[in-house]
Amino acid sequence: MLTDKMAKALNDQINAELSSAYLYQAMAAYFEHLGLRGFAKWFDNQVLEEMIHARKLYDFIHERSGRVVLEGIEAPQHEWESPLAAFEAALKHERYITSRINDLARVADEEGDRATQIFLQWFISEQVEEESSVGEIVDQLRFIKESPHGLFMLDRELGQRKFTTPSVEGE
Ligand SMILES: [Fe+2]
Ligand SMILES: [Fe+2]
Repeated sequence: MLTDKMAKALNDQINAELSSAYLYQAMAAYFEHLGLRGFAKWFDNQVLEEMIHARKLYDFIHERSGRVVLEGIEAPQHEWESPLAAFEAALKHERYITSRINDLARVADEEGDRATQIFLQWFISEQVEEESSVGEIVDQLRFIKESPHGLFMLDRELGQRKFTTPSVEGE
C-alpha cells in the first residue's frame, strides 16, 4: 500500500513522463517540418519510450493498490532556433526529469517505502542513459556547427535507430 504522499508523487511523475512524450512529439514535428526525417524519427522513438515510462508508473501504482489520477498536460514549445537548440532543450529537460526522479527517491526514503525505492532504481539508471544519449547528439551538433553536410550525415545516422519495445513489466 502506498502512502498518500507517495501516491501523489508517483502520479505527478506520470504527468511528467507524458509531458515529456508531448514535448518530444513537438520536437519530432519540428524536425519533420525542417525535412530532417532521421532526427524526427529519433524523437518519435523518444515519445514511445516516455509513454512506456508513464505506463510503468501507472502499473506500479495499481500493483500497490493506489489510485491513478491523470492531470492536464500543457502545450509544449513548438519552435526552436536550430537543431542544436532543440537538442539542448531536450538535454535540459532530461536533467530536469532526473532531478524529479531523485526527488521521488527521496520521498520513498522519507516514507520508508522500500518497494518504491527498488522500483525507482530502474528509472535512476534509465536517466543516466537518457542524459548520455541526448548529450552525445548535442556534442555532435556543436561539432558540425550547422554544416548542411554534417546535418545530413547525422540525420541519416539517427534515422537508423531501431526502437525495440521493452517489456512494460520491466527488464
Ligand atoms: Fe522518461
Ligand atoms: Fe526521457
